[in-house]
Amino acid sequence: MLRSGILKRLLSFLRRWLDRPPAATSPSAETEARRLPTMPTGAPAAQVSALPSPRPIKRQERTLVVGIDFGTSTTKVIWQDLSDNHFEVIQWRPSNDGLSSFLLPSTILLRGGSMHFGLSEADADGDDLWLHSIKLCVLCRRKPSICRCGNTVARHGMIGLPGSEQPIPASSFACLFLAHVFQEVERRLLTQFPDDDLVLIWNVGCPMDHLDVGDLRSEWEKMTGAAIELRRRVPSKADMSLLADATRLVNAFVVAAPSERSYFVQPEGLAAVKAFLESPHAESKTYAIVDVGAGTTEVSFFFNGKAMAEPGQPFRPCYLADSTDAVGGVKIDQELAQAWCCRVEEAKRRKEKELESSSIPMVPSIQDICLQYQRTCGEIVKENKLTSPHDKRFDLFVIGGGGRLRPLQSALQYQQMPGGFVRECLQQLKPPRSLKHGAQLQAHYDFLAIACGLASSLDWDYYPPKDVHPMPAPRMMPKPDVEELYPK
Ligand SMILES: Nc1ncnc2c1ncn2[C@@H]1O[C@H](COP(=O)(O)OP(=O)(O)OP(=O)(O)O)[C@@H](O)[C@H]1O
Ligand SMILES: [Mg+2]
Repeated sequence: MLRSGILKRLLSFLRRWLDRPPAATSPSAETEARRLPTMPTGAPAAQVSALPSPRPIKRQERTLVVGIDFGTSTTKVIWQDLSDNHFEVIQWRPSNDGLSSFLLPSTILLRGGSMHFGLSEADADGDDLWLHSIKLCVLCRRKPSICRCGNTVARHGMIGLPGSEQPIPASSFACLFLAHVFQEVERRLLTQFPDDDLVLIWNVGCPMDHLDVGDLRSEWEKMTGAAIELRRRVPSKADMSLLADATRLVNAFVVAAPSERSYFVQPEGLAAVKAFLESPHAESKTYAIVDVGAGTTEVSFFFNGKAMAEPGQPFRPCYLADSTDAVGGVKIDQELAQAWCCRVEEAKRRKEKELESSSIPMVPSIQDICLQYQRTCGEIVKENKLTSPHDKRFDLFVIGGGGRLRPLQSALQYQQMPGGFVRECLQQLKPPRSLKHGAQLQAHYDFLAIACGLASSLDWDYYPPKDVHPMPAPRMMPKPDVEELYPK
């Protein structure tokens, strides 16, 4: 009796459920929660509201990994769509030709109580105050010896604005610059995919090595996390009052556990290796990548084969050694200006025009970069991480705009390496096959590779440098007795 009553109620519920009106087409509460929040007020409305459609469109979740290469001189952004794994480059200025259309100057211009982000020299006016190389200023707060951003108002990572008594940390400016980049990228992606619920994962590069010797990661994460929170409030022209908010937020920012956030900070050297892994180069051998930027140089050595970190452990590729030094195009420009007796801006212009020329003098920074390359290889030798002469033959990639300088390339190419390491080929890094317009972008890929590596979703299961232990000394075979081999 009791059972038939329950059955009847169940049947009537089922009938009512089947007769219910069709489901609403709006996303479920769960999807809504994961959806990107709507645009900031003032943003063009068409970018948020989907185009009117005769039929309700079924919204789909689309996950994009966004690689942000926040460079000392320019910022490059590439994203990857995880639904088909294709990559696309953000074109900041489609009206510009070639490379410059993909480069957003990492500049902040202070004009009439406002901050303008990403402007270039062409937009300069007499009374402007420029902040160039703000990334270097963030770095030099911890290491004042590298202070050479060329900003008249910056010193040791603090910016003293005219008329203001309290200096402002460079990280507050960098945070707002990043927030502006996040806003612009998000706006463009929402425009490109108006019918989808976007899930964005942000990967920001940081000039740190594997051991994070400079203890940068936590600072970079706070700056990036605060920028994610502020991104709705930082258009290309923003009010200076935002600086106080950024300073407060960066100082008090608590970085959530990786599983609970959508932004990550990755070493630029590792991003370079990931760019290699995304490329069609697949040989199982040893490689070196030297990324010479405007402010820093990253050197990475890795063995792209199967190796054991220690006897008995699984076979995996090995990241053999890496380093990051505060030397790059900015310092080279300053040294060239001295050699040519001209202003730094003039030296930079001349250098970029005569990149291929052998008339560019061998300034100390070129030698410093070669020494860094040699020293990083020396770490592998010192720790005896590779012993086979075959594995010590490696191919070299030189990337980054600073690496375009021909005298630097030649110096790296012919640099004597320690411990029997021999460079075989100087190769050009190729973009992934799934990069949109990859063939046209090949010529600029030295600038874009880090952003591409940051947008990579590859889970490279490798041994980091600290886990690659010394190889056991080869077992010495006793010398055969000639008389035994050839008895008389
Ligand atoms: N055609 C070019 N356009 C822009 N920069 C160029 C060009 N050719 C050479 N360079 C030099 O490249 C350097 C910038 O390279 P890149 O964009 O790789 O650095 P970054 O990523 O901004 O800096 P970093 O990685 O050190 O933070 C500058 O020193 C610049 O003078
Ligand atoms: Mg760079």
